[in-house]
Amino acid sequence: MSILFVNACMRADSRTLRLAKAVLSQDDAQDVEEIRIGTKSCDALTERSIVSYNCGVASGNYEDALFSPAKQFAQAEEVLIAAPLWNYGIPARLHDYLEIVCSQGITFDVDEQGRYVSLCHAKRLTFVTTMGGPYPSAENDHAFGYIRTLATAFWHIPLVRCVYAESLDMVGMDVEPALKAALDRSEG
Ligand SMILES: Cc1cc2nc3c(=O)[nH]c(=O)nc-3n(C[C@H](O)[C@H](O)[C@H](O)COP(=O)(O)O)c2cc1C
Repeated sequence: MSILFVNACMRADSRTLRLAKAVLSQDDAQDVEEIRIGTKSCDALTERSIVSYNCGVASGNYEDALFSPAKQFAQAEEVLIAAPLWNYGIPARLHDYLEIVCSQGITFDVDEQGRYVSLCHAKRLTFVTTMGGPYPSAENDHAFGYIRTLATAFWHIPLVRCVYAESLDMVGMDVEPALKAALDRSEG
């Protein structure tokens, strides 16, 4: 099975990255394709690039390199996105990436009744995250809450899960057992 690993971990010794790699090693992944959001300059939608984006979507011509991440995402059999919780949400670079991935005509479309139709192949999406404090309440969860909305509303991915370790920056927190517990929960 091929897995698209969207690595939005920024720190060199990222705990989120360690957890994500452990989750990946649990899976029977023959083929992991990694995209590193922190180093790759993924085009954000700006005053300039929105023109190419809208032209491509309106004409159905997706040759512009801007659309490459969306094409790659649509083909993945499984997706794993790893990112730390930043300010109750995801790092801005990951948001830029997801904005491009949400290209109408590549990862989803709209039918004549106005319903979203998925053009993605993925059967499962896993979001791996860690955070310094406790996991946010549902109304404040702008990280997994946002990704789950995209995955279900646009891409109709049947299995969407979050593997997380919380409170890692709290005084006295023993990080290694917390990461191990997160991994064990993901197996259950
Ligand atoms: C810019 C920034 C924003 C953060 N925002 C939050 C937050 O909203 N809630 C939280 O619990 N922790 C927050 N943290 C702490 C990180 O989520 C936590 O340290 C996480 O484990 C970092 O993951 P990493 O080790 O993979 O870098 C923030 C850290 C940074 C650098």
